[in-house]
Amino acid sequence: MRGNILFRSIQLTLPKLKSPSSSLLVHIHLRRFSFIPAKSMAPRDPNTLANYGEWRIKHTTVNFKVNFEKQRLQGSVLLEFNSLTDKKSREIILDTNHLAISSVKVDGANTQWVIEDRVEPYGAPLHVSVPDGVPQGEAVKLDIALETTEHCVGLQWMTPAQTGNKKHPYVYSQCQAILARSIFPSQDTPDVKSTFTFNITSPLPVVASGVPVPSDTKGEEQGDKLFRFEQKVPIPSYLFALASGDLATARIGKRSVVATGPEALEDAKWEFEADMDKFLEVAENLIFDYQWGEYNVLVLPPSFAYGGMENPIFTFATPTVISGDRQNVDVIAHELSHSWSGNLVGCASWEHFWLNEGWTTYLERRIGAAVHGEPQFDFSAIIGWKALEDSVSVLGADHEFTKLIINHKGVDPEDAFSTVPYEKGFHFLYYLDRLVGREHFDKFIPHYFHTWANKSLDSFEFKQTFLNFFEAYGNAEIKEKIAQIPWEDRFYKPGLPPKPEFNTAYVDTCLALAEKWKNEDYQPSPKDIESFSANQTLVFLQAIQNFPKPLSAERSHLLGTTYNVTSSKNVELKSAYYVIALQAQDKQEFPGIVELLGSVGRMKFVKPLYRKLNELDRDLAIKTFQDSKDFYPSTTRGQIEKLLGLK
Ligand code: BES
Ligand code: ZN
Repeated sequence: MRGNILFRSIQLTLPKLKSPSSSLLVHIHLRRFSFIPAKSMAPRDPNTLANYGEWRIKHTTVNFKVNFEKQRLQGSVLLEFNSLTDKKSREIILDTNHLAISSVKVDGANTQWVIEDRVEPYGAPLHVSVPDGVPQGEAVKLDIALETTEHCVGLQWMTPAQTGNKKHPYVYSQCQAILARSIFPSQDTPDVKSTFTFNITSPLPVVASGVPVPSDTKGEEQGDKLFRFEQKVPIPSYLFALASGDLATARIGKRSVVATGPEALEDAKWEFEADMDKFLEVAENLIFDYQWGEYNVLVLPPSFAYGGMENPIFTFATPTVISGDRQNVDVIAHELSHSWSGNLVGCASWEHFWLNEGWTTYLERRIGAAVHGEPQFDFSAIIGWKALEDSVSVLGADHEFTKLIINHKGVDPEDAFSTVPYEKGFHFLYYLDRLVGREHFDKFIPHYFHTWANKSLDSFEFKQTFLNFFEAYGNAEIKEKIAQIPWEDRFYKPGLPPKPEFNTAYVDTCLALAEKWKNEDYQPSPKDIESFSANQTLVFLQAIQNFPKPLSAERSHLLGTTYNVTSSKNVELKSAYYVIALQAQDKQEFPGIVELLGSVGRMKFVKPLYRKLNELDRDLAIKTFQDSKDFYPSTTRGQIEKLLGLK
């Protein structure tokens, strides 16, 4: 790997060299020092080009001006590293992806630097020369002047016309998994963590993944204001986040506000205020105190590709969670849980992503059970199992991406993303929980999070931590049981894991109704679902999706009109019904489907609909995509292009 990068450095073309001094010198310099082998910790993340085994990030300061006219972030980033080798490493290699870098200084002095050729899908490594190296443990500071470019995949810019109240522009970031490198040069790996200072100037309010600090007005120009934030808990680069737009805030809990466009504020407040404090209380009882100070939610514009993103201090959330029925607040329980699983204790590379998402899904379900009653745990797990079955059937039961530990060498983590790490991860933890017994597992939970707080780990370290804990626990029966755990199978066997017995209390009525629909003479009535929660209706719809023989177009339409699904504000329900309509080839629903695809960017909804629409009417699928592609963030756009075979 290093050899290859080295070889590429010999191919450098002169125009790419932007250092003020002799380009030839840079050339020779990089070659010479690149030959020094990395001696310290071998990096275990295959999705970064950074030499983070030689230098370790400590603190990052970003100084950015939000330029809405040019749709760029402009400014500089200050990176403080510690040397892990004793003067042996003479260059720092960082991840970048389509950044316009204009200068690099090492401890205040200009230095040689170069951006190497791209290594797809990881971007282009920035090599910075540190001529004399640095003694082990000592610090070096890089000051990099830069601008983002039009190819920046980590930022989504919107003109006023594309926002809720059409008055102001908007920008938001999404860095997970490897998009931070498109905003600033970084050791873009979850294996290392940095504290952050944010100095952001913008004409509009800013939120970021740090605690707001009051700022004086120096440095303001043309109506721009300076917004400052500090993140004192070390975080990996993928948790860097900012957003700026016409934002208003309202209180939703003791430690929490919701931020969104002023026109949407009241609904957002209502959606969250009943549950926010309860979620925090349950999570703190289950694990330990919340470590980050505030927990807030930013409700983003509808193009956002995810349900939620666990950016510290400010979870970013899709507006589809504001469904007017408080039925999608589990997304908040999920993102809040990441404050421990992922943000405090995180996976060392995306190969062990289940440590983030599996743990978080487990904690989310424990919170759901504590707030809504024990059967809620199984109710959510049943919905999850269906999603897992869908993923395994789309990917194929032998597919690498259906393993708990996924080989990511040469892989774009976005391609490997699916429900598998969530649900297979959940099922692994739930299996361990049942194996040792809830009472005992609950003692392991805080132990695990204490042990790994502020660190990153892989699955093997998880295994060791679990075994060590229960070996020292003093319970012979448990000791015997844990000796039987088939770790290899659980880690590497593709396809579905063993299915546990679920408590079906909340789903029985939903499945009974679906059963009735198997009879083509069944005459439905709105009363059928009167007593259902929206999520029970969802389970019913998912059961219909699973029929071996799809409904006829007529029956599907009857279902939609009788139960009034298309007029629901709940996009989960609407999109689940549209999948049924597509299975039934009900063309009457095409306009509604096209409308939804053009107004929501959340991949969970958009991907299954494109997949089905493409099977049924490829021209319409392509046309819909062409019409909507500028609305989608890069992630959604890229995934749909692949799905439609356009890339
Ligand atoms: N961290 C994820 C979102 C993510 C994953 C973004 C990978 C980019 C790459 C977030 O915590 C998440 O899991 N969101 C879910 C919420 C759901 C499981 C409640 C989503 O977006 O659907
Ligand atoms: Zn998550």
